[in-house]
This record gives sequence, structure tokens and C-alpha cells, in this order.
Amino acid sequence: MAALASAAVAFSISAASAAIELHNTITGEPLSLDDAPPEGKDVPAFKEFIETGRNPYLNEPNCLAKGQQLYLGACSGCHGHVAEGKIGPGLNDDYWTYPDNNTDKGMFETVFGGASGQMGPMYQVVNVDEILMVMAWVRHMYKDKVEDAAWLDDAQKAKFQPYDGKDAPKPDPANTPAECKIE
Ligand code: HEC
Repeated sequence: MAALASAAVAFSISAASAAIELHNTITGEPLSLDDAPPEGKDVPAFKEFIETGRNPYLNEPNCLAKGQQLYLGACSGCHGHVAEGKIGPGLNDDYWTYPDNNTDKGMFETVFGGASGQMGPMYQVVNVDEILMVMAWVRHMYKDKVEDAAWLDDAQKAKFQPYDGKDAPKPDPANTPAECKIE
């Protein structure tokens, strides 16, 4: 228990303004961001996530290409090219082994801290900001009913288009911001 308590303290010091607390998907133990390399922690999108528990990249189509590239490098070997499932379960439907994965916070916890078996912690492979970009691409590939997409608010649900199987669009200067960057 002492180790658990000190991990929780370390977390609250390293992210003093954090409004969410992260826990391991399987054990429920606190996750410490201090375990991860520093890259990505100062990026505005990650700071917003750690305050709100919501993934700002869901609203940034110009970041999808980066998310896809990261997904193909770090996840598709186990979860399939379009998240249809392979060694690991499908991530493109409404069934979750761990139901919290239907929220941004829950999926971040699984990717950061791992689950069981082959699903190890991914924070050495993708930094904390990149995890959010990968998650936005995974959500983009969702093929089931929009009502069950708990990670979308009503406005996002109204705009949601089921995945068309295509690669991510190239960043489009007509969309703001014109590159994958959140201020
Ligand atoms: C070496 C293979 C492997 C890699 C690489 C991998 N996963 Fe997994 N993943 C798995 C396995 C196996 C499970 C099932 C674990 C379990 O049930 O506890 C899983 C489970 C998951 C779950 C929970 C699904 C559910 O139904 O609740 C999510 C979300 C997930 N992975 C996302 C990712 C993402 C995103 C990446 C890339 C950053 C990734 N995984 C990389 C093998 C992998």
C-alpha cells in the first residue's frame, strides 16, 4: 500500500493541475506519468486531455494522417490494418472487453498502462501526445452505431460519418489549424 500511495503522490505533483486520475485497466492501481519519457507532456492537446479527460484530436481532421501513421507502426500488427482484430481484439466496433475503453480516459489508460498478455504498456513506443493521436485514428475507424460511441458528445455525434475504409486525408489548408497542431 505504501508504494501505491507514493505513486499517487508522485502523479499529483508531476501534474499539479490534473483533474483526472489515471488507473491501470486491469489492476486499478494508479498510473504515473513519470514513468513515460517527457516528450509530448507539454503539448497543449495533452495538457487539455489531462485536465478534461477528453481527446482534443477528435476534432482535428488534419491530425488523422499522423494518427494513422502511428497506428500502423505501433498497433496494426496486433489489432489489424483497420482495427478489425488479429492477435488483439477489434477496436473498430461497439464491443469492449473493458467497457471503459469507450471513453477517452479509459482508452488512454489501456494504451499507456497496458492490459493483459501481449498488450503491454505502450508509453515507450508512442509518447503521451502520440497516444491521443492514435486514439483519434482508432475512433475514426469505428464502424458501429453512433449512439453507442460514448467518447463523442452530441455535436460530434451529429457530424460523425462511419469509416469509409480509406486512408486518412492529407492535411487540408482549408481546415484550421492548417497543420496538425493544437494551440
Ligand atoms: C503485441 C501485440 C499488441 C500491440 C502492439 C498492441 N496491442 Fe492492444 N491489445 C493486444 C491484446 C492481446 C489485447 C487484449 C488484452 C486483454 O484482453 O487484456 C489488447 C487490448 C487492447 C485494448 C482493449 C480492447 C477492449 O476490447 O477493451 C485497446 C484499447 C488496445 N489494445 C489498443 C491498442 C493500441 C491503440 C495499440 C497501439 C498503440 C495497441 N493496442 C498495441 C495486443 C496488442
